Amino acid sequence: MKDGLEDVIAAETVLSDVDGLAGRLTIRGEPLQTLAGRVSYEQVLSLLWDGFFPDLPHDLAPALGEARKAVFDMVRRELPLIADGPAYDAMRALMARLPDDTDLETALLLGAAPGAILPALLRLRAGETPLEPDPALGHAADMLRMIGGTVPKPEMAVALDTYLVTVADHGLNASTFAARVVASTQAGLNSSVLAALGALKGPLHGGAPGPVLDMLDAIGVPANAEPWIAAELARGERLMGFGHRIYRVRDPRADALKGALARLDKLNAINGARAALASRVEAVALAALKAHKPDRPLETNVEFYTALLLEAVGFQRDTFTAVFAAGRVGGWIAHAKEQAANGRLIRPKSRYVGPVPRVAA
Ligand code: CMC
Repeated sequence: MKDGLEDVIAAETVLSDVDGLAGRLTIRGEPLQTLAGRVSYEQVLSLLWDGFFPDLPHDLAPALGEARKAVFDMVRRELPLIADGPAYDAMRALMARLPDDTDLETALLLGAAPGAILPALLRLRAGETPLEPDPALGHAADMLRMIGGTVPKPEMAVALDTYLVTVADHGLNASTFAARVVASTQAGLNSSVLAALGALKGPLHGGAPGPVLDMLDAIGVPANAEPWIAAELARGERLMGFGHRIYRVRDPRADALKGALARLDKLNAINGARAALASRVEAVALAALKAHKPDRPLETNVEFYTALLLEAVGFQRDTFTAVFAAGRVGGWIAHAKEQAANGRLIRPKSRYVGPVPRVAA
């Protein structure tokens, strides 16, 4: 048995490759660096979904925009009934209302759903009326407009778009595996996406970026980084935003997001004190982790810079995982289609280590 299925190859995929030793992420033949900040989220969806839907249009942007509008219309009456709870749970509950088929229309609704539902929930939370999606805008720009009420500065939209592209797919991570397990039973796409949403929520996967900001707040000032981190590690705690199951070098997504942050800096969107603190914390954490676990390389992962970027773009920390889902949903759908088309039912075995039945005398 391999605990955590470490190093087990459980699927073949044409979608993405994570090279943990070289620190490389390839999406359908394209290195992440040629995509992040250079193509739109809709273009990455086209790349990921190519070959899985016979009627896939060349340009997905208009269809995704119309899908945002359709999702909004489907859930608008229920939005106020559910908006009080945590945004992630409310979004997931509303997504469960969408169809559970396997066609392109369903894929578009699910792909658009986080981008349509999360902004509406945030408007309600702020005491404002949710705004209808504008299909003419790009996905990232429209998300920000639906939250803030005005079309965002292009740099802000580009930063969010870069984030969505960067997290769109990443090999057989826990949520994608969950999606593939469900798809292997020939269930619908929504069933796969809901399973994936459950897996993404945990702090060892998509739930880490909010706690990254909690860590920065707890540290407070750069001078406190060293004692705080030493105390956490001595208590056996994990530092959020560091370490990875596959990467033994720096996560390439961290640099894609660091680059997007640097471009935002020109807008003065980043709080200077926050940036200085983050930079010191990253350096101290890397040194401390090296000393703490000399045999296990623990480097910065995607979530550290996710936290800084999403904060700079204006999201509150308890919504970060929902924004992650807005990007990763495209990958989940592609993997579910690939699994259903090519894969067998996923049904591994477990080794029984419980009590042995008593034999009757
Ligand atoms: N801080 C302190 N120690 C760590 C950390 C960390 N961030 N990550 C791993 N370790 C230690 C861990 O305690 C273990 O030590 P020991 O062998 O003494 O028990 C050793 O390193 C190996 O860890 P592991 O749990 O076997 O490694 P894993 O492959 O199961 O865990 C991980 C990967 C991402 C869950 C882990 O590094 C972690 O918990 N990181 C913090 C949470 C985080 O940043 N999550 C976001 C992951 S990136 C987003 C994504 O792609 O999903």
